[in-house]
Amino acid sequence: MAGLIPQHFIDDLLARTDIVDVITERIPLKKAGRNHQACCPFHKEKTPSFTVSQEKQFYYCFGCGASGNALGFIMNLENLDFPVAVEQLARLAGLEIPQEHSNGQARTGPNPAYELLAKAAEYYQEQLKTHSTSKQAIGYLRNRGVNNKTVQQFQIGFAPLGWDNLMKALGSTPEREKTLTESGMLVEHEEKKSLYDRFRHRIMFPIRDSRGRVIGFGGRVLGDEKPKYLNSPESSVFHKGQELYGLYEARQANRDLKQVIVVEGYMDVVALAQQGITNSVATLGTATTCEHLQKLFKLTSQVVFCFDGDQAGRKAAWRALENTLPEMRDGRQVRFMFLPQGEDPDSMVRKEGKDALLSRIRHEALTLDDYFFKQLANEVDITTLDGCARLAKMATPYFEQLPEGHYKTLLDKKAEKTIGLRLSSNHTSLHYAAPQNHATTQVSDYPPSYPWQAEKKVFHNRKPFNKGAFWQSEVITPKISLRLLDRALRHLLNTPALATQIKTDTLHKDNSVDMQQFVSLVKSLQNSPQQTTYQLLGSWYGTQLGARMIELLKNDILDSSPALQKQEFCLTIERLEADILKRIGDLAMSDLEKLRTAAKKSSAKTRKNT
Ligand code: UTP
Ligand code: MN
Repeated sequence: MAGLIPQHFIDDLLARTDIVDVITERIPLKKAGRNHQACCPFHKEKTPSFTVSQEKQFYYCFGCGASGNALGFIMNLENLDFPVAVEQLARLAGLEIPQEHSNGQARTGPNPAYELLAKAAEYYQEQLKTHSTSKQAIGYLRNRGVNNKTVQQFQIGFAPLGWDNLMKALGSTPEREKTLTESGMLVEHEEKKSLYDRFRHRIMFPIRDSRGRVIGFGGRVLGDEKPKYLNSPESSVFHKGQELYGLYEARQANRDLKQVIVVEGYMDVVALAQQGITNSVATLGTATTCEHLQKLFKLTSQVVFCFDGDQAGRKAAWRALENTLPEMRDGRQVRFMFLPQGEDPDSMVRKEGKDALLSRIRHEALTLDDYFFKQLANEVDITTLDGCARLAKMATPYFEQLPEGHYKTLLDKKAEKTIGLRLSSNHTSLHYAAPQNHATTQVSDYPPSYPWQAEKKVFHNRKPFNKGAFWQSEVITPKISLRLLDRALRHLLNTPALATQIKTDTLHKDNSVDMQQFVSLVKSLQNSPQQTTYQLLGSWYGTQLGARMIELLKNDILDSSPALQKQEFCLTIERLEADILKRIGDLAMSDLEKLRTAAKKSSAKTRKNT
């Protein structure tokens, strides 16, 4: 739906709206320094930790981690959908909402993609029943144990062999052809300039949004051809990072969702539902995003990730954990279930049945904290002091992503029990190669004071700027020693135009997701450096990077002068670049080391044998 309201309108609307007005209308705010404060409307509290920054047009609660802009506030407070919230704000601002037509012109009325995608789903269902070659498809589904009721429930269909079946059935006008192309059902042949069906000879799984509207498809081959699954591309109605396969069906089947099981595949959802486990959803061939979790936590307080017991499943689990951390507010529970090697939820439920699988999950799924420490402990030897120190170092950046609350405190205590170190106060300069002269003044108050207070302390203490003093400031403020990348990001949040000060060639060499997203942010800012902080938040809202930005705003924005900020930003980038270049060098070194060890071993062997 967000795709229907043009981004420029949302930017304009936010520019004309003052978050302080919007919030004051609903809860009384008190001025406190540069910001406004109140008792948080999203959790119970006696002393105000809900803070509104007029300058940043942003709210943040230090108690529960709730945060967002004016739109986010009324969406969360009044439980409104995005378009309804936009309507409310637009009415207040006296603005009319233009709707984006598929060809870019203003239009009113619903996006025609919804209607055509619904027709496509009907068409595929019809083909499964009536097409002359549908026997093979029906046979396939039977073989996999899917019965008629489940086929109906998930509206599973069949795209027959051929290049233009759907086009002939639905593309009766140039307008319709255009809509079908934009929603990914038809593909344009580059040379011939003609259109053809994207999905051919596949079992079709319609993907529905939370209102039940078809927004895309996943299509599976009937045999071993590749690719096994083909998915609709992103479109104005289909956003993979936000949607979950099976969520609509799960809500239909359950009045309340006490728990949601997140699995990897469409067929897992279908097979589980068929066996009576009707509360599972799958991501759409992508990683689990923060936005997925936000969506789930609006409906349930318990999420269980159920991953295949293979390498890919383990990787997916860690990614899911990373994106879960910022969402771990008190009252939410997340667990991780790893199935035995070679099994997925589909094979497992068919092998052992509903009750055994549910009981397995109850008994074997790891809590988030157990999984977190277990996984990190795999990488070090925690029977040694330096192993514990390394674990603390690895754990800290993750720990920092947790919203403030009891869970964070408890996880910290668990760290202390497991490795003898707390994560909240032990990470002095851990993310940096410590400068030679680091005079470590540990701040030992616990629980920690608000990050911004720590920040203030430092910047007031700071000596006139020079390279050493800047990095030293990391050392005397353990609680805010952010990762370099976060520090750079925070500078960009404060002054987006800083992006024009740097080049991305070296940064680009680091192919971690974080860095790649950072680089694309920098590039987009280089193209339009006039973007403001909250426009940035708006346009990255719902992405991993967007969630990180929100998290970073916990630390009040740096208070230094523009010139100083520029220097600091450029220095941070230099440090990042140096790290990347060093890492590339280290990798080459460790390869060399491995080769040497291997050579030594084999020469020792030869000696033994002779
Ligand atoms: P799996 O290969 O684990 O799916 O991929 P599955 O559901 O177990 O497959 P089958 O039907 O039982 O063999 C998990 C998910 O990854 C995405 C799909 O969303 C799939 O459901 N995927 C997989 C693709 O998008 N493309 C592919 O080629 C394979
Ligand atoms: Mn499978």
